[in-house]
Amino acid sequence: MMILEGDCFDLIKDLPDNSVDLVITSPPYADIVNYSSSVSVKKPDEYVDWLLPLFKEIHRVLKPSGSFILNINDNCKNGLRNTFIYDLISRNNKETKLKLYDTYIWHKKSGIPNGSKKRFRNMTEYIFHFVKNQKELKFYMDRVLVPASDNFKKRTKTPVGHQGYFKDGERIVELKNWKDYDLVRPDNVFRFSTASASRDNTIRHPAPFHKDLPCYFINLLTDEGDVVLDVFSGIGTTGISCNELNRKYVGFELNPKYVEFSRKRIEGNLTKQYTINQYDLKDNFIRSWKSITEIENTLGFDSHNHIEDCMRKGNKTSYGYKWKIELDEYRD
Ligand SMILES: C[S@@+](CC[C@H](N)C(=O)[O-])C[C@H]1O[C@@H](n2cnc3c(N)ncnc32)[C@H](O)[C@@H]1O
Repeated sequence: MMILEGDCFDLIKDLPDNSVDLVITSPPYADIVNYSSSVSVKKPDEYVDWLLPLFKEIHRVLKPSGSFILNINDNCKNGLRNTFIYDLISRNNKETKLKLYDTYIWHKKSGIPNGSKKRFRNMTEYIFHFVKNQKELKFYMDRVLVPASDNFKKRTKTPVGHQGYFKDGERIVELKNWKDYDLVRPDNVFRFSTASASRDNTIRHPAPFHKDLPCYFINLLTDEGDVVLDVFSGIGTTGISCNELNRKYVGFELNPKYVEFSRKRIEGNLTKQYTINQYDLKDNFIRSWKSITEIENTLGFDSHNHIEDCMRKGNKTSYGYKWKIELDEYRD
């Protein structure tokens, strides 16, 4: 594990060519969060010029089998949506050798209300997948297959991934090797929690990943022992994921407070604090509680053992909620 303090645009120059298996990162979004006086907030019209030189370096350090996963979002100004992300993708295609492999949508389990009567709630962010060489790409589909829905099973008469062929305008499907379709390929819409919605590591940073996001792509795109780089490391959530999955982590971060905090966090030198979180049956976060007594006093429940039992099993209660004990924050 290596977290280096400094400007990623400089630090990445010290990494050798073809040395990194996966770059996964979320840069400071244009015009949005201020990460301290040492980190300048970029305006939408200067954003692409600022970020593209880093893309060139990312291409240089990636192994041919490597991937670059970029989580990013835009915003609205003067009643209209900014378009700099489209410029970023289009100019990347022309000005660097990184290739856009795919575009995924992260459908957040919770979003920020905007109060506008003429605009929907924004519940999505972009995840762009770039590669150096798609022919050599590491991509372990078998690790991320998901259970087929009952609906899918009823509808589908074909093996997974087998679309058949066409004869005289009609689809012909051969079922010879057809065994079962319990597991299917996931779709390209991800439903990771936000860190704040899941109450995971909200402390000390305005916009950390929930670790499910880096974990998913590390598992999909790398092997044990591979090198994963987060150029905007923040409080090191990608590093925590690397620890769990036995990958080597390199992180760059400009703000010294985040560097210190993430080093302690990755080394496990912080006290973990848990809360009891209440969800509806669709796993939407409702609110956090400090103790069962607080729940009982506020909601008028008198079933201490029942709630405790439900939390332990991660089960729903007869009151139509789920209760879970989850990591809330780390403290020095
Ligand atoms: C969206 S946050 C990343 C959060 C991270 N994914 C996590 O889970 O903690 C972006 C981070 O980039 C850092 N940053 C901004 N400009 C930087 C630069 N030029 N070099 C290195 N870090 C930078 C900010 O301080 C901030 O912590």
